[in-house]
Amino acid sequence: DIESTLRPKLLENYIGQDKVKEKLKIFIEAAKIRNESLDHVLLYGPPGLGKTTLASIISNEMSVNIRITSGPAIEKAGDLAAILTNLGEGDVLFIDEIHRLNRSVEEILYPAMEDFALDIIIGKGPSARSIRLDLSKFTLIGATTRAGLLTSPLRDRFGVMCKLDYYSIEDLKSIIIRSANILGIEIDSVGALEIAKRSRGTPRIANRILKRVRDYAEVVENGVITKEVADKALDLLEIDELGLDNIDKRLLLSIIHKFSHGPVGLDTLAATIGEERNTIEDVYEPYLLQIGFINRTPRGRVITKRCLEHFNIKGD
Ligand code: ADE
Repeated sequence: DIESTLRPKLLENYIGQDKVKEKLKIFIEAAKIRNESLDHVLLYGPPGLGKTTLASIISNEMSVNIRITSGPAIEKAGDLAAILTNLGEGDVLFIDEIHRLNRSVEEILYPAMEDFALDIIIGKGPSARSIRLDLSKFTLIGATTRAGLLTSPLRDRFGVMCKLDYYSIEDLKSIIIRSANILGIEIDSVGALEIAKRSRGTPRIANRILKRVRDYAEVVENGVITKEVADKALDLLEIDELGLDNIDKRLLLSIIHKFSHGPVGLDTLAATIGEERNTIEDVYEPYLLQIGFINRTPRGRVITKRCLEHFNIKGD
C-alpha cells in the first residue's frame, strides 16, 4: 500500500531524528560485527513521528524478519507465548502501544526479554510446577507515547531508549518532497514549505495533507502544487497557518471562554469538548505545549499569551 511505499527502508533514507539515527547506526553495526541480536529498543514520543518505520528499518538493517503487533491486540498470556515461540533467531518483535499490555501478559515478557525463556505453569494448586522453555534470541522493539507510561520493571529491560521529537520544518519539507517524488506529484519548493509549516512537526500528517492537497490540485487546479494551491487547499481543509485543526481550536477556545484562560483539569476539559482524556493528552496536547500555546500547572492547563495573540484575543 501507499503507506509502506512512502516508508524508507534504510536508516540513511530516514530524514530527521539525527540523534536517534546516530545511536541506532552504531548499535546495529556493533551487534552485526559481534553476530548478536540487537538489544531491546524502546521508542517513545508523540504519534506519527515514525516509530513503526524505524522498527522496520532496524529489522531490515539487521536482515531479520519483523513481527508487528500492539499492546491491546495481545489479550492473553498465551497469545504472547504463541508469538514468542514462532520468532526466528534474531527476529524483531515490534509491540506498538506497549504500555497497554495487561499485567499477566507483561509478566511473560520479563523472562523472555532477559533470558529468552518462557516460564509455563503446569497444573494447579500444590502440585503446580513451572517449566522453562527456551526461545530464540530476539529483539523487542516497544513503542509508546511517553516512557513514563511503562511500569519500571518493563522500562528497565530495554537496553536502548530513543526519544523521538517533533520534526523541524526543513526536515518535513524534505519528507514532503521525497513523498511527492515517490507518488509522482508535482510540487514546488514553496508549496512543500507551506505544507511542512502546517504539519505539526509530524510526517504522518505531512503525508496525509500532501495527498489531500494533490486531490485539490488535480481537480480544481492544473495538478501542480504551488504555495497558492496549497494555501487554498489547506483553507478548504480548515487547517490554519500553524497546522491547528478544528479540534485544537475547540480545545483552546473552550479553555479561553469557558474556563477564563484556565487552569482547567484534563478530565473537565475532555468532558467539555467531548474528546477522550487520553487522546487529548497524547495527541493534541503535546504539540500545543511544544508551540507554547498552553502550559501545564499543578492545577491544570492554562492558556498562554502567545495563544491569545494567535486568535487575536486581548490578554488578561
Ligand atoms: N516518511 C515518514 N517519516 C519519514 C522520515 N523520517 N524520513 C523519510 N520519510 C519518511
